[in-house]
Amino acid sequence: MSNAVIQQLLNRRSIRQFSGEPVREEDLQLILKAAQQAPTSVNGQQVSLIVTRDKDTIRKIAEIAGGQPQVAGAEVFITLVMDFNRTSEAAALAGEKHLIERSAEGIVAGAVDIGIMLQALQTAAESLGYGTTPIGGIRRDPGAMIELLGLPAKTFPLVGTTLGVPAATRPQVKPRVPLDSFAMNERYDTGKVSAGIRQYDVTLRQWWDEQGLGTMPTYSTSTASYYKTVYFPTIAADLTRQGFLFADQAD
Ligand SMILES: Cc1cc2nc3c(=O)[nH]c(=O)nc-3n(C[C@H](O)[C@H](O)[C@H](O)COP(=O)(O)O)c2cc1C
Repeated sequence: MSNAVIQQLLNRRSIRQFSGEPVREEDLQLILKAAQQAPTSVNGQQVSLIVTRDKDTIRKIAEIAGGQPQVAGAEVFITLVMDFNRTSEAAALAGEKHLIERSAEGIVAGAVDIGIMLQALQTAAESLGYGTTPIGGIRRDPGAMIELLGLPAKTFPLVGTTLGVPAATRPQVKPRVPLDSFAMNERYDTGKVSAGIRQYDVTLRQWWDEQGLGTMPTYSTSTASYYKTVYFPTIAADLTRQGFLFADQAD
């Protein structure tokens, strides 16, 4: 049986146009508390949020993200920071060394926690009537974000989210690949995945046409255009500068 939570999740979509109405401070505090209750690996709580309300700073973030108007128009921008500074300080308090940020496992664990928290934060915001879009565009220039937000070593800005009151006209819910090519029973089914891609190319084409955006690419064309290059090419260098290392054996 469906319920309000399921309905909200089924209706979620990225909101890129905002009315300009403010985000109420008590709502923001509730959203932050709800986000904080997300699970984290080993209860390490290796995520910190930087809440940006200052419009000039939001405009700077929009520029860092490649000139995204959907960021510049947000009332609040929240950066989700992978934070092994906190755990490192905790380890020092316990008199132990701290190596995890110099391992692939650390980076993967931190990134998973960030994703979970992003979803909790956005779901809480939507339940209060706000709109959001995740912004990975900040990884276009992590160094600029690190400087702008004063992020110390062993931290990294992985993704952000816009927050604001949605404008009157909202986009339609974007369809996904067929459910049976996404959620597979017992074993991965490459045939279903291939068939799903072909079917989805048609579905998404129709959907863009219905939105009056006939020039938008199909799934295969769009994905190919992103993934034929490494579109954010400085992540390894920026991670290294912050004290991270993507390796199995921490040195
Ligand atoms: C990690 C992540 C990063 C994203 N970065 C951006 C971004 O920089 N700018 C943007 O407009 N949308 C961004 N998106 C939103 C996706 O484009 C969007 O989720 C996808 O097209 C599906 O549309 P929907 O969210 O409306 O269902 C991002 C989404 C995720 C999960």
